[in-house]
Amino acid sequence: MVFHVMTLFPEMVEQGLHTSILGRAMDAGIIGVKTVNIRDYSEDKHRHVDDYPYGGGAGMVMAADPIARCFEDLTSGMTKKPRVVYLTPWGKVFNQQMAKDFAAEEDLVFLCGHYEGVDERVLEEIVTDYVSIGDYVLSGGELPAMVMIDAIARMVPGVLTNEESGETESFMNGLLEYPQYTRPEVWRDRPVPEVLLSGHHAKIAEWRMQRSIDRTLAFRPELMENVELDKKSAKYLRSLQNPTE
Ligand code: ADE
Repeated sequence: MVFHVMTLFPEMVEQGLHTSILGRAMDAGIIGVKTVNIRDYSEDKHRHVDDYPYGGGAGMVMAADPIARCFEDLTSGMTKKPRVVYLTPWGKVFNQQMAKDFAAEEDLVFLCGHYEGVDERVLEEIVTDYVSIGDYVLSGGELPAMVMIDAIARMVPGVLTNEESGETESFMNGLLEYPQYTRPEVWRDRPVPEVLLSGHHAKIAEWRMQRSIDRTLAFRPELMENVELDKKSAKYLRSLQNPTE
């Protein structure tokens, strides 16, 4: 899968993504990240890509033409029109299911905006998906694009090792992660929960399931509505809800 990022700050995106699991996947040729500098498509002698907004108001607006020509160049070799994501606080809020869906694409294009926005006409012409990474305002689309690329790449077959995908699966069952511990056995008078030292796999699995449920109820109770629990987990949840039964 190839991620194409249209941006005014290509080095920011390249440097931010070439580490850890994604760096390994890029080196193995499983995913690619290609950045293009929108400024290279300016026809202005000062390489401007922005202009004053019609109707007045503060800030500058990114002009349609450099973006359109950048996009046309980028897609000229493609046989099929790719999905194009525009990062914006008014987009649909990104989640794990969307990451999974996007991971099925061969090519995925991101348009990173700056200044006060982008001329609406080029958005109408090229964008297929408007996506936000949360209800707050960032200075540009680069960080959101990087967040999305990380989450999507993890869903591309071959990017995670078997061991690593196990970890993702446990979030994807809809519950939050259980707590983790490593050596030493006692740290500043805090011991590791006894059951984790027992070597009893079934008991450990049950303890982890219960702590996942506890944590989900404490931090993100609304997630509980979409979770499918197995018999044992459902019984534990009922015991919390009706402690006298
Ligand atoms: N651009 C600025 N803020 C953003 C956000 N929260 N999500 C996606 N793109 C953005």
